[in-house]
Amino acid sequence: MKLQNVDSSIVATVKPEHPVFIDPATIPWTPWVIEGTFFKLMHVKEASGGFTMFLKVEGGNEAPVHNHVGAIEVYIVEGAFNYDDDRGETGYYGYEPAGAIHMPESPGGTIMFAVAYGPLYGYNPDGTIAGIVDGKALYEMAKANNAHKHLHME
Ligand SMILES: [Fe+2]
Repeated sequence: MKLQNVDSSIVATVKPEHPVFIDPATIPWTPWVIEGTFFKLMHVKEASGGFTMFLKVEGGNEAPVHNHVGAIEVYIVEGAFNYDDDRGETGYYGYEPAGAIHMPESPGGTIMFAVAYGPLYGYNPDGTIAGIVDGKALYEMAKANNAHKHLHME
């Protein structure tokens, strides 16, 4: 199959309501839900609880165990992180399935672009749920840091 052009009198292009592109450098980092991590929220999927973000992890960070309600796709922009011997380097793509429970490590720090298809949650020391991290919660955190003006809820 090959796509071909069609006359605009048959299929007209549609201009989106908001600009397609944004420079992430114009968005400030906001502290994320794990010590030593920061995020730039790029998109919120309200109905599913999903979200898209850049996540920066400072070196020497060992994140607490967390549970993925929705899958996550990641692209490692800088640095590296790993789940035991499963290691992602700069330029790597990763897929974390829904239901994954794990504890990422990033000894040298990393910046990743992540698309979450649903929320994730973390635990208290006694195993109870400490909090649900969904797109709306991240939106409120970004808003409190004045890092939300480019966002359009879906
Ligand atoms: Fe994860």
